[in-house]
Amino acid sequence: MENIASIFKSHLEPKEVYKGGKNLPSSSKKIYKLSSNENPLGASPKAVSALKLAAETIDIYPDQTDIRLREALVQDFNNELTVNQFICGNSGSEIIDMLLRAFINEGDEVIYSNPCFLPYSVFSRWYGAKQIDIPLTNPNYDLDVEGILAAITNKTKVIFLTSPNNPTGTYIPKTVLDEFLNHIPKNIIVVFDEVYRHFADAKDYITALPYVKKGHNIIAINSFSKTYGLAGQRIGYCYTTTILANYIRQIQKPFLLPSTSIEAAIGALKDQIFINKTVELVKEGRHFLAESFTSLGIRFWPTQGNFFIIDPPLTEMKFTDRLMKEGIMVRPVSQFGAPGKVRITIGTQEANKALIEALKKIKPE
Ligand SMILES: Cc1ncc(COP(=O)(O)O)c(C=O)c1O
Repeated sequence: MENIASIFKSHLEPKEVYKGGKNLPSSSKKIYKLSSNENPLGASPKAVSALKLAAETIDIYPDQTDIRLREALVQDFNNELTVNQFICGNSGSEIIDMLLRAFINEGDEVIYSNPCFLPYSVFSRWYGAKQIDIPLTNPNYDLDVEGILAAITNKTKVIFLTSPNNPTGTYIPKTVLDEFLNHIPKNIIVVFDEVYRHFADAKDYITALPYVKKGHNIIAINSFSKTYGLAGQRIGYCYTTTILANYIRQIQKPFLLPSTSIEAAIGALKDQIFINKTVELVKEGRHFLAESFTSLGIRFWPTQGNFFIIDPPLTEMKFTDRLMKEGIMVRPVSQFGAPGKVRITIGTQEANKALIEALKKIKPE
């Protein structure tokens, strides 16, 4: 009898899979979920009412072209891009998959920089790409520009950059990105993951927008899971040059986006009050937590995202379990290439205070 494994693709041998953060356990105890970088305010009320309205017609196929959502995105980008430059998908993660599916031939090389979002490497493997990790440099987790440029070969197809980066919270300053992109050959796609962009306030923070407008081969990933509070609805998008977008669109499945997602996303884009409230909450929380970590002697990294990584006073698993007993759920991030570190999402003021009170009780062993 032939071995069943002989029908498997050789590059898909069972290996590490990407599992997202855990869900809340079903218990009556109050738990603050600070483990998945979700929006602690919930979803935009405008998104929720649009979704409810859309639920009344879920027997009808959705808008095949998602044109209304793309028109709303054009408005959101102040007409700096056109509808042809957006591709929507069932989440930022799905967009990452779509891009790799669109560009990777078996044996192509994909470069990313650990610690980073695990799907870059896991999804690359699905398409038979060779994964090249050029880690962020210690101790500040800066991008190793020279290291990446030196790693480029004639097989390099995609380079992932993330700003703000998950899980480190670090960002790529404008001068660094300018310099980097000037050295990238035209036959390489830079995938610029900016799903946390609304939370960045550093003066030299920059999104991919000006580079797309200049015609660089750069594709910006965005998500409705964070600022807009639609993580459970699974919707995201990317924007890029018209030529790349038209190419990628060929592999977009018809009727990909549920009508409820389309309507929720359009509603969320219109809800500037909710967006402002969310961003303000994150900035206040960032300030409060940074001061509190400092006074507790906990090492943390300055962040531009809605989360921190810290060096916990216990091993990451013990620390995570201990905090869970105190009603706070956080995420160890060894899997993301940050061994021993723990990522903590910035929550409501109540949750942030509860976190600090819990941390006061945890002593190093
Ligand atoms: C850096 C980064 N990119 C992309 C995503 C994907 O978000 P989603 O799949 O929820 O849209 C996440 C989610 O945590 C992320 O942290």
